Amino acid sequence: MTTFPQTRLRRLRQSPQIRQMMGTPLPGPERFIWPIFVRTGTNIKEPIDSMPGQYRWSIDRLPEAIDTLLAQGVNSVLIFGLPDLDSKSSDGIAATFDDGIVQQAVLTLTQHYPELMIFTDVCLCAYTSHGHCGPLSGVGQVDNDEANLLLTKVAISHANAGAHAVAPSAMMDGQIAALRNGLDSAGFQNTILMSYSTKFASAMYGPFRDAEQSSPQDGDRKGYQADYSNLKQAMRESVLDEDEGADILMVKPSLFYLDIVARLSEITNLPLAVYNVSGEYSMLIATADRGWGDLRDMVQESTAALARSGADIIISYWADRYKEMFT
Ligand code: PBG
Ligand code: ZN
Repeated sequence: MTTFPQTRLRRLRQSPQIRQMMGTPLPGPERFIWPIFVRTGTNIKEPIDSMPGQYRWSIDRLPEAIDTLLAQGVNSVLIFGLPDLDSKSSDGIAATFDDGIVQQAVLTLTQHYPELMIFTDVCLCAYTSHGHCGPLSGVGQVDNDEANLLLTKVAISHANAGAHAVAPSAMMDGQIAALRNGLDSAGFQNTILMSYSTKFASAMYGPFRDAEQSSPQDGDRKGYQADYSNLKQAMRESVLDEDEGADILMVKPSLFYLDIVARLSEITNLPLAVYNVSGEYSMLIATADRGWGDLRDMVQESTAALARSGADIIISYWADRYKEMFT
């Protein structure tokens, strides 16, 4: 057995050239999806306080956002809608309306950017008055099966507006089967289903809930989102969604869950997405702002970790700054 001093691992790290030859490159822009917030109103590009560098856009200003994105080489968006506050209701029915904010944004984008890949978030929490991801059946209890009926309508309306992929994020049991059946019956066999398959009840969604104004008024989401202390259930969540017909699986959040990403990528042949969530984004910005770390270096290191752990697709708020961060 050869060992030190003959074996010296530093031999293969001597220069940037040799390191690059051995290392995995940073994921290219084609692997990224940029989450974008769309709101009602006109001529609005409203900064999100808790997510510096990200905005709520009115539909007429979307071209500015999309032109920037395309210039980075990134070709995909994940749309989140902020409806008018007075359209919120106990069941979130406004999420299903064909003239809703997401549906309108999708229509506009498909007209102006035929090459852009459009994913939409399918959930009810931005549309329910109580902020939970479906109608309630009791105190703090979401009615699972009723939510599935509504979510299916939401997905069909998004597909009807031209979304290429719908991404249900409500963590209802059976939501993937419900959406696949509903989409197929409505003639949308080609609409891709990207499941938020293992989505944890996480403390890292805070900035997003501020951005979306979608915090639950009472209680939390621990009754439906996955428990981060339970590895076996986390795996079952994704395995079941594969069985129900998901085209793409997802782990969310990403950086605290690389063990799940690595395990899942070994047992599934579906493409695997990770959602580098708002808290993970803002955490790096906050650190850099205090002079405690270099933003670009932290972004590169954390994104490399996502790719290394087995993620094929990276949903990231860094996508609209791809060139600055990754090249
Ligand atoms: C809503 C939804 C959330 C996120 C995506 N879809 C928040 C939540 O479940 O509370 C989080 C995204 C992020 O934090 O960047 N179902
Ligand atoms: Zn939700």
